[in-house]
Amino acid sequence: MTAKRDVGSAPVRGRRVLVRVDFNVPQDANGQVADDRRIVEAMPTLNHLRASGARTILLTHLGRPGGHPDPRFSLRPVVHRFSAILGQPVPLAEDIIGYKALEMSARLENGQFLMLENLRFHPGEEANDPGFASQLAHLGEVFVEDAFGTVHRAHASTVGVPRRLPSFAGFLVEREVRELSRLIDEPERPYHVVLGGAKVADKLPLLSSFLGRADAVLIGGALAFPFLAAQGNRLGATKVEAGLEKAVDEFLSAAEGAGTEILLPEDLVVERSGSAGVETAGIDHVPADGIAQDIGPATRARFAGRLAESHTVFWNGPLGRAEDTRFAEGTREVLARLGSVTGYHVAAGGDSARIAQDLGVTGSFQFISTGGGAALEFVQGLELPGLAVLPDA
Ligand code: 3PG
Repeated sequence: MTAKRDVGSAPVRGRRVLVRVDFNVPQDANGQVADDRRIVEAMPTLNHLRASGARTILLTHLGRPGGHPDPRFSLRPVVHRFSAILGQPVPLAEDIIGYKALEMSARLENGQFLMLENLRFHPGEEANDPGFASQLAHLGEVFVEDAFGTVHRAHASTVGVPRRLPSFAGFLVEREVRELSRLIDEPERPYHVVLGGAKVADKLPLLSSFLGRADAVLIGGALAFPFLAAQGNRLGATKVEAGLEKAVDEFLSAAEGAGTEILLPEDLVVERSGSAGVETAGIDHVPADGIAQDIGPATRARFAGRLAESHTVFWNGPLGRAEDTRFAEGTREVLARLGSVTGYHVAAGGDSARIAQDLGVTGSFQFISTGGGAALEFVQGLELPGLAVLPDA
């Protein structure tokens, strides 16, 4: 994908700069920020703006409050953590586009920051309401898009505002586009994709997008079960997503036609009812009361062996129920062994970044995206509205 005009060339000194960040961060039971990676990753842009004398106004959403104020989704804990990382206090404008926000933004001095309260407290954000977008745009003179995780949404802050102001990509967006483009613009072959996680129905478009583009797709996790079931394997008491037989058949014949090999598990780690222990079973020998929870040792060896032959790897989703340490070993082993393979390895989407961190395998990747759905749409080659609206470099 063509690079976007970036914030390094934006005239920002003394100007009010609206920066869309994706500070939609996980929170713990007390509402405190549980993982600040998305904040930390935006710091190159925000430090640049501070050093360049910009008056920065941060725009973000948090969660899905549904267009009305909800204290559970207030940005107060987020602005608190951001202030600590930045090393200077950042006030929060609670009325978003009201008089106070206008006044607070007008009073900013060079190098200072202001954050608006959760944009999704206003129904105009997700509706991309022109009035709301105009009022947001009115708070600034320049727009910077650094919320890579949100560029797949056509909302007021991602599309409406950049249509109304001179716009630039932030350094995080610029880096995400550069890195993820390596997967769609002639990836070095062999190109292997490792996909896990749950919902097959949701992931079929993603899976299909790799046919003809990747040399092999390695499927694990619950994602594999409808494929294994369609091949006539007995999966015991394993819950298999229903109604997908036709879609799975069509996908497998399309893969054959496209010359993309599909690798499925050959053995599984199984949990038996009433037993804390686990056992390994072949895919056609899962006991009647057994629930498949991870890929087995033979599958791990085969997957790792195949990845050892790759030059490019994309990974999304755990290969077992990795939140339970008894079933995390398949994902951990395959990804850990990827660490000794020379090539370009990318992790993206959903909880993949957090899982890689929890399993201690972040070192196996050259790039870990901050994007969830946005990264998955990008690697499918789809046009993302929040990027399409930005001028090319
Ligand atoms: C994400 O976490 O993927 C982004 O912040 C987008 O959030 P959304 O799916 O609620 O639009």
